[in-house]
Amino acid sequence: MNHFTYRQNQLYCEDVAVQKIAAAVGTPFYLYSHATLIRHLKAFRDAFVKIDHLVCFSAKANTNFAILKLFADRGCGLDIVSGGELYRGLKAGFAPERIVYSGVGKRVGEIDDALKAGILMFNLESVDELKLIDQRAGKLNQRARVAIRVNPDVDPKTHPYISTGLKKNKFGINTEAAIEGYRLAARLAHVDVVGIDCHIGSQITEAGPFEEALQSVKALLLRIKSETGIDIKYIDMGGGLGITYGDESPPSLNEYAKAFMQNIEGMAVTLILEPGRVLVGNAGILVTRALYNKDGQDKRFIIVDAGMNDLLRPTLYDAFHAIEPVVRKKASKTVADVVGPICESGDFLAVDRRLDEVNSGDLLAVMSTGAYGFVMSSNYCSRPRVAEVMVNDDQFHVVKQRETYADLVRGESLPPFLDD
Ligand code: LLP
Repeated sequence: MNHFTYRQNQLYCEDVAVQKIAAAVGTPFYLYSHATLIRHLKAFRDAFVKIDHLVCFSAKANTNFAILKLFADRGCGLDIVSGGELYRGLKAGFAPERIVYSGVGKRVGEIDDALKAGILMFNLESVDELKLIDQRAGKLNQRARVAIRVNPDVDPKTHPYISTGLKKNKFGINTEAAIEGYRLAARLAHVDVVGIDCHIGSQITEAGPFEEALQSVKALLLRIKSETGIDIKYIDMGGGLGITYGDESPPSLNEYAKAFMQNIEGMAVTLILEPGRVLVGNAGILVTRALYNKDGQDKRFIIVDAGMNDLLRPTLYDAFHAIEPVVRKKASKTVADVVGPICESGDFLAVDRRLDEVNSGDLLAVMSTGAYGFVMSSNYCSRPRVAEVMVNDDQFHVVKQRETYADLVRGESLPPFLDD
């Protein structure tokens, strides 16, 4: 459920007409609904209310400061994968004791910052990393709370680029090696072993793979206890729950929660979840303006002012995003590719899409772009990154200014040998 609805043929975000925002801030821009974000967080947490749990929003899905602040203010935790996400998270007010740090390539400086901040747990992805964290914690006179990310070899049946729990993936450590990892961790002087971590992939639309992964984690937990004596306090099952972009029907939050709860009941552990997409995906849209219609030899093209640099998902994953008119007219239908201004054939938002006839100047809403939208945008072709706007009831606020041309060259300098 989200708060993007039509009233008298005009697309509204809560109580603000999207057209009005476009007139004020120009296009393209990302638009987020405050009420939808709050509702999604609440619904997610409510689904787990019967068990001891901690929801850590996966920052990578959307690091807009206003969104982070909104979640932090409600006592949510944060899942980070970089020093930059730690910096943003702390600035937005997340309690360090609710921050978990995943990722295969943590650098020394990033580890040190997280140790100094006193985060809840490092999710370790290799034995090398475990040794380094022990060393850094010793040096800084800190203790590092750690979990090992295990790779349960479960097929999440999603796009190969966003599957992470298979043997062939770079993530985590396989079960046997993980036991060795736990043995080693237990002997290290500056490490406290507190958890087991697992994340099998993203945009998962069935509950089965989550349950399978949890069963594998649970079996490992029991083995760790009996073989090493370590008491695990946290089971972190990562993120991954899919959303409806088009015709997907992911499990409801209750079905998803049940997959975990029925396997964890009675265990003295806290379940950590790292949802990203499911909290923010349907809480955001990308608003773009049609520039031209063009009839190619084989195809019709609608050329819009947002490109693959603004929304990479369609070309990177062949992802489907519905495209809706911001103002509905009694238009005939057309079939066209919706493409951006970038000089690549991969620069599309939709291919062979049936939509209402679009005239130049019309506004279009690219739906369900609140997750992995702005965060994956770039300055390719020297295109300033777009504005981000948040609506709350009948108010809207630019929560990130559109970049300027001056922003594009900030930080660049000429070497002396070019300076004549
Ligand atoms: N935890 C870990 C360790 C992760 O790697 C991820 C996502 C999440 C949590 C959150 O997963 P979610 O609940 O959002 O599925 N750019 C891709 C998605 C990449 C996901 C990477 N990891 C896309 O646009 O579909």
